[in-house]
Amino acid sequence: MRFTRCDQTAEWAMLQAYWQTHGSSIDLRTLFANNPSRFDRFMLCAPHVQADLSRSHWDETIFNHLQALAKECQLEAQRDAMFAGEAINSTEKRPALHTVLRAPQGSGPYSEIVHAELQRFLLFAEQIRSTAGGVAAGDIHDVVCLGIGGSYLGPQMAIEALDAWVHPALNFHFVSNIDPHALNKVLRHVRHQHTLFVVVSKTFTTTETLANALTARQWFIDQGGVDFAHHFVAVTANLQASKAFGIETSFAFWDWVGGRFSMWSSVGLSIALGIGRQHFLAMLAGAHSMDMHFLQTPLAENLPVALGLLDVWNRNFVGLTSRCISPYSEALKYFPSFLQQLLTESNGKCVDRAGQRVPFSTSDVVWGETGTNGQHAFFQMLHQGTDIVPVEFIVAKQPAWRGSDVLSEALRALLQAQHQGLMANALAQSRALMLGRPTIDLAVDELTPHRAIEGNRPSLTLLLDQVNPTSLGALVALYEHRTFVAGALWGINSFDQWGVELGKEMYRGILPCLLSNSDEAKLAQPPTDSATMGMLNRLG
Ligand code: F6P
Repeated sequence: MRFTRCDQTAEWAMLQAYWQTHGSSIDLRTLFANNPSRFDRFMLCAPHVQADLSRSHWDETIFNHLQALAKECQLEAQRDAMFAGEAINSTEKRPALHTVLRAPQGSGPYSEIVHAELQRFLLFAEQIRSTAGGVAAGDIHDVVCLGIGGSYLGPQMAIEALDAWVHPALNFHFVSNIDPHALNKVLRHVRHQHTLFVVVSKTFTTTETLANALTARQWFIDQGGVDFAHHFVAVTANLQASKAFGIETSFAFWDWVGGRFSMWSSVGLSIALGIGRQHFLAMLAGAHSMDMHFLQTPLAENLPVALGLLDVWNRNFVGLTSRCISPYSEALKYFPSFLQQLLTESNGKCVDRAGQRVPFSTSDVVWGETGTNGQHAFFQMLHQGTDIVPVEFIVAKQPAWRGSDVLSEALRALLQAQHQGLMANALAQSRALMLGRPTIDLAVDELTPHRAIEGNRPSLTLLLDQVNPTSLGALVALYEHRTFVAGALWGINSFDQWGVELGKEMYRGILPCLLSNSDEAKLAQPPTDSATMGMLNRLG
């Protein structure tokens, strides 16, 4: 089925005209002054997540046009095609069925194999957890996860986010980079008889992961490790390759699960090892509730839709080039990196599904850092820099601490006060970005231009009750669907990633030139460009 690309609609032209006429006069302060119910109007609620979208450079008219644009692009039909398992990943001729991974058994395609594998890896996780921290050889204390990109960003993010739910006797380590320092640093701190290595790779061909797995295996042997089968497991869609590597226990997932959408599958094994079966299922349930919201809620109140439309508006009409993700939550420390892959690997494309160059901008640059740390680093630029960067604040009403039941009253009160301080900072920043400090409020002296702050800088705030397994599941699913919505309007395939292949190919050509003493070096075909040759000579 062919869908209409956003720029080929009547609504696109209308939005362009509206922006040209009204764009330069859009001021958040005026919008609020003219509409006392603006906050309530743009406060959208989805399961486990509420969103304040009132501080964006849009109004009712724009929002209505954007919804009409979504209709013209047949967004609902595109969404339904995804849920139904149609091959919407057109270049790889596959469905994108991450939603099935969190759907109740019996609903959706592939449900039986999904649930069989889910039960299998949850059982394995519970077995490991039942003796975790024990003194017998084979009892696990440390889990070392080897994987990169989608095979690590989600699990690492979730283990950090759900620290309060993680088994107290298990330590988690994530090694992704081929840089040997990363693995070496971890191996220095673990003991082979108490370590479980989880090798995660959809293809089981990724250089970084295989290099780390080979080195970890050698380390295990050198340490006198005997029960390799117990200490190394794999998660992959290429079971043959993990077997050939010598790993006996492998957990499957499927080519119709994209790496960056895979933390709900056995890729989440480390999450299950950390938080256990019950909480893992809660995370899936949270994501599923967001799926149902996305599937069933009218466009006007549909949060992933509203966010995806805002992304299109910000990028293609307001002309914003980057966004800052700022969770006011140390638990969500790795969330910006996780989103960076999800949003940019999905929507950083310059051709549409038919291979035509698109005449508009697609993915913005996604970056970020937790608050309040960011305030003391780059928020200066957000307030007074020449570029406008929308900020996405993520806040949680209640904190969650590991072992909070054994804290004294006094300590609990102090921690709670710190949490309120964190929330106050988030609210202060979104308010300062919006209101600024006009020159009129300042005594006039030579510092006036420096102290004046323009304001009218957009932000949005996502509010959770607490960062817990259920809300994290819902939050991640919200961003997945938001990514899909923007990609669907742009007419691009959000589920492939051809752009990363060229670097991989060139790497294979360059490596032999650096392995100067090996047989491989004899086969090397040196690159022909003088810059690479020049650097090779200096490295050699
Ligand atoms: O480099 C791109 C990529 O293919 C990502 O999309 C993926 O998440 C990552 O590499 C890891 O791939 P694999 O799971 O096959 O090792």
